[in-house]
Amino acid sequence: MCGIVGYIGKRHALPIILDGLKRLEYRGYDSSGVAILTDAGLVLKRKKGKIKDLVGLVGQETINGTTGLGHTRWATHGKPSDENAHPHRAGDVVVVHNGIIENYTELRAVLKGRGHHFKSETDTEIIAHLIEDHIKSGESFELAVLASINQLKGSFALGIMHTKSPDRLIAVREASPLVIGFGNTENIFASDMPAILPYTNNMLFMNDGTVAVITADSVKLLDFTGSPLPVNPKHFDINPATAEKGGYKHFMQKEIFEQPQAITDTMRDRLLFDKKEIDLNEAGLEGKLLHAMKRINFVACGTSYHAGLTGKYIIEEMTGIPVDVDVASEFRYKTPLLGNETLTIAISQSGETADTLAAIRLAKKHGSRILSICNVIDSTIARESDHVLYTHAGPEISVASTKAFTSQLIAIYLIAIHIGRSIGRISKQQASLYIDTLVTIPSLLDNLLKQEDKIIALAKEYAKCSDFLYLGRGISYPVALEGALKLKEISYIHAEGYPAGEIKHGPIALVNRDMPVVFIAVKGRVFEKIKNNIEEVKARDGRIISFTNTGNNDIQNLSDSFFLLPEIDELFTPILSIVPLQLLAYHIAVMNGTDVDQPKNLAKSVTVE
Ligand code: F6R
Repeated sequence: MCGIVGYIGKRHALPIILDGLKRLEYRGYDSSGVAILTDAGLVLKRKKGKIKDLVGLVGQETINGTTGLGHTRWATHGKPSDENAHPHRAGDVVVVHNGIIENYTELRAVLKGRGHHFKSETDTEIIAHLIEDHIKSGESFELAVLASINQLKGSFALGIMHTKSPDRLIAVREASPLVIGFGNTENIFASDMPAILPYTNNMLFMNDGTVAVITADSVKLLDFTGSPLPVNPKHFDINPATAEKGGYKHFMQKEIFEQPQAITDTMRDRLLFDKKEIDLNEAGLEGKLLHAMKRINFVACGTSYHAGLTGKYIIEEMTGIPVDVDVASEFRYKTPLLGNETLTIAISQSGETADTLAAIRLAKKHGSRILSICNVIDSTIARESDHVLYTHAGPEISVASTKAFTSQLIAIYLIAIHIGRSIGRISKQQASLYIDTLVTIPSLLDNLLKQEDKIIALAKEYAKCSDFLYLGRGISYPVALEGALKLKEISYIHAEGYPAGEIKHGPIALVNRDMPVVFIAVKGRVFEKIKNNIEEVKARDGRIISFTNTGNNDIQNLSDSFFLLPEIDELFTPILSIVPLQLLAYHIAVMNGTDVDQPKNLAKSVTVE
């Protein structure tokens, strides 16, 4: 939700900021802007539309300056427009913001009473005016920022510039992410690592309630009272090239194809193949602790929620521990029925999703231990958890989540086998069978991906349909939900995921030749049941696309189209069956000409409620 970049150093700031904004465009892409401090004064440019529109605007001018701020927006307050785009300015103060200021109406009224005039409909503009107001009362830039942020309620990551203090930028973090990169005679801060990685691998993830005063040669860290804090950057061993397209047409396609590698990286050093053991020592999930756990509770949003739903089947089967799964935005406002015998597992690719973060804070307050499955190292959810298992899937840039999902599933298998063994629910022999199955998955995925042509052919046949129904049973039900989500979010085609056994309770009324029904029909305990559901749809002249691993002709004869999945233990099928559904959604979207990596109205990291 909005991306921020700030640069101060010896190089031209503009290209560095524009490059950073392009790398953060996945966070929001309805408008963008830059503010550069030049010898001739401040140059401020804002443009509705994508970063390329801003580049078109600033490309016509020479803007030389070594200090600047940039912003790419996902609108919360005020529609996307040039006026509402950031940076916002009040006198000598310039601000970029990610988050929501909840008390902006009151503050705006007070500031209006003090003679301030507002040019935008945003909550952000009041921050610039508030700081200006304090400076006008005689406070220094730093003290004015401290005084102002203490008046704000809500979530805010801020980049702040004061044209009369050209040697410094101030960054503030409260409930929205911000990372500082430490360079050689230059420093850069941004909402996420990809904007920083081309310049330095030494970074510091700011904590909530902290302020950084950043010059070209120094970073000073303060809390909101102004007391100094230690500054300890860490080295992050990540190659910036992993955040580039590498010959693929879209990040989404690249990330789908990265899945064999991503899941291998999730297993690395944790799945000990020779010993047939799972080692999760890094997460500190000791046997004694696990013995005390009577319930497990997943909290997550979107695709990560679907990983949690799948996790319920896996963990209940492998551990015998009852599992609840909650959408984080619902959970955070419930009276949670959990305590110190509950393990709350938060799943979040970004580790910054506001609702998931609020959910773990609530669970913690009620005495639950928190384990998080995150992809982004040192992200807020990871830092606030008692235990963390990183998926190590590499940066996921496409707004539609793909490799994050499959690597989250791998993390869940590892956790489930580890718990199952620790509490004596599964034997060494059974664990060894599970481990043998897990290690085959990367190559099975490789083979699946080689069949992209078959999916392209399917996409051609169905790309113009305007409604889809996705059906699965048992562990394939969350796969149906995830397949439908992928299609709707990137192609804007209406798609509904449903448990196949439920269709006679309503959705079967929709069946006709215009609405393809996608079945995920894998071998296992409900195979005969889903076959009956396919028959029911067929009997109503439905148009059936099946994803099946049965190898026999029954399903194929009933289907208008089918795709053959590899055979595997039913418990592990989701990780294979989701991949062709990701590809189907991708190719349908490409054929319909949508903006695959940056679908309308969405943003990668939902850091506002
Ligand atoms: C869908 C998608 C979203 C995210 C959701 C949670 O493709 O990307 O539904 O899964 O916003 O994000 P994280 O996992 O970062 O908490």
